[in-house]
Amino acid sequence: MALQDVLLDELRDMYSAENQLVKALPKLAKGAKDKTLKQLFTEHLEETKGHVIRLREVFEHLGEKPTGQHCNGMEGIVEEGSEALEKDEEGPSFDAGIVGAALRTEHYEIAGYNACISMAKTLGIGEVAGLLKENLDEEMAAAKKITAAAEPILKAAAEQPEDSDPSPKSAKEKYSAKKSRDDEKKAAADVAHRR
Ligand SMILES: [Fe+2]
Ligand SMILES: [Fe+2]
Repeated sequence: MALQDVLLDELRDMYSAENQLVKALPKLAKGAKDKTLKQLFTEHLEETKGHVIRLREVFEHLGEKPTGQHCNGMEGIVEEGSEALEKDEEGPSFDAGIVGAALRTEHYEIAGYNACISMAKTLGIGEVAGLLKENLDEEMAAAKKITAAAEPILKAAAEQPEDSDPSPKSAKEKYSAKKSRDDEKKAAADVAHRR
């Protein structure tokens, strides 16, 4: 069945994404300055290990192996998280960057699980949909908790003085700035002709 194949691809992607997060979350927990944030990342790390295990159950149910596809999307998001960890910012503004990165990972997972659940439901595999929904609920709860924990952090960051020289400094930052100008240039004509 064609949809079953698509679902398997998506699930393998999720499996890779979750495994990548098992390695990335401890770095966020270690890097975050705020105690609540640290604790949330540590708690969500344990949930994330549970997500890996639950996905294995899903694959067992489908009689398929979980590996076979690397999630490039999560690799990119995790890479942006490492960039946030390298930033030369003070306490709250440093944490604000980490919050942005963490919320991206959660919402990427939420999108993935929503897609997989719709497919599983269409295929009538309720058991799979149910297991995936358990992961989805924990992702949504995590995103909500991170957003709540971020509130005082963002307020404190708003009080911090601005960077006197925000221009890109490292070679990596300069390359990134150049690429972003390329992105803008390539899209400019299309954006100008918006209907
Ligand atoms: Fe997860
Ligand atoms: Fe998550």
